[in-house]
Amino acid sequence: MKTVETIRDLRRQMAAWRAAGESAALVPTMGNLHGGHLELVREARRRADRVVVSIFVNPLQFGAGEDFEAYPRTLRQDAERLEHARADLLFAPSSEELYPRRREAQTRVEVPGLSGILCGASRPGHFAGVATVVCKLFNLVQPDLALFGEKDFQQLLVIRRMTEDLCIPVEIVGVATVREPDGLARSSRNGYLTPEERCRAPALYRILRETAAAVENGDRDYPALEAGAAQKLASAGFEPDYVSIRRAADLAAPKRHERDLVILAAARLGRARLIDNLRVMRSQAGS
Ligand code: PAJ
Repeated sequence: MKTVETIRDLRRQMAAWRAAGESAALVPTMGNLHGGHLELVREARRRADRVVVSIFVNPLQFGAGEDFEAYPRTLRQDAERLEHARADLLFAPSSEELYPRRREAQTRVEVPGLSGILCGASRPGHFAGVATVVCKLFNLVQPDLALFGEKDFQQLLVIRRMTEDLCIPVEIVGVATVREPDGLARSSRNGYLTPEERCRAPALYRILRETAAAVENGDRDYPALEAGAAQKLASAGFEPDYVSIRRAADLAAPKRHERDLVILAAARLGRARLIDNLRVMRSQAGS
C-alpha cells in the first residue's frame, strides 16, 4: 500500500489507475481504525479494482468545545491495518493541504433540512463540515463508489442527498454497523469510556432493541416510546441527547401508515457522546 499526503501525488496516482481502466472505491475516515472501518475497506475490496482510504481529522466538522484536539490520531497503526486489509492507497493530508484558506473563508456545502435535525441540532455546523470535506474528497479522488457506515445513519443520508443534489457521479454504498460481541457499536469514541462506563455502554443498543420490539409488535405511540427509552437511558447512567423514531428514507416524522422506520439515539456517557440506530420494519398487522 502506498501513502500519499499531497493532492498532487493523490491526483497523479488516481490518473494512472483511471488511464489503465481500473475502477476505484473511496473509504473516507478520520483514522483510529477499528473493525467497523475495516469492514468498509473489505466491502470496497469486493467491489472495485482499487481501494483508496482517506484519514483526516476534519476540523470543519467539530464544534467549539468538542473533541477535535483529543480525537485519537494513530496513523502508523492505521497504515498497518490498511495494509493488512489490502487497501491500495492511503491519503493522509495535513489540514493546510486540504484547507489552505482560513476556516471562515472556506467554501462550504450545506444540505438543508437533514443537517439541522437530531445530531445536527445538537452539533450546529457539523454536517456542513462533513458534506464539505466529503465533497472535496470526491472531487480529489473521483471514485466510482464510496462507502459509509450505517452506524452514522444521518451522515449517510446527508451524503446521499449531497451527491444527488450536486450530481456527483459517485455511487454511495451503505455498510451495516459492526458491533462488539455485547452489542456496542464499534467507534473510535468508545476509547473515551472508563472500564466501568464500558460495562454500561451496551445498554444503548439494548434499549434500541427493546424499543424496536415494541414498534414491531404494533405500538404506535412513538412519543411515549421515545420518552420511555430516554428514561431507560438515564436510569442506565447516560445523559440522553435524543431518542427518535423516524422514517428511514429521510428522517421525517413517520405518518401512521409508514413501515420502514429507524430509531436513532445519541447519549453522553462520561466523556463520550455515543450514537446508535436500528432499522425497524413495522408489521402490517394493526396498520
Ligand atoms: P469516522 O468516524 O472515522 O468513520 C468513517 C466511516 O466508518 C464512516 O462512514 C462511519 O459510518 C463508518 N463506521 C464507523 N464505525 C462503524 C461501525 N461500527 N460499523 C460500520 N461502519 C462504521 O464518519 C466519519 O469518520 C467522518 O464524518 C467522515 C465521513 C470521514 C468525514 O470526515
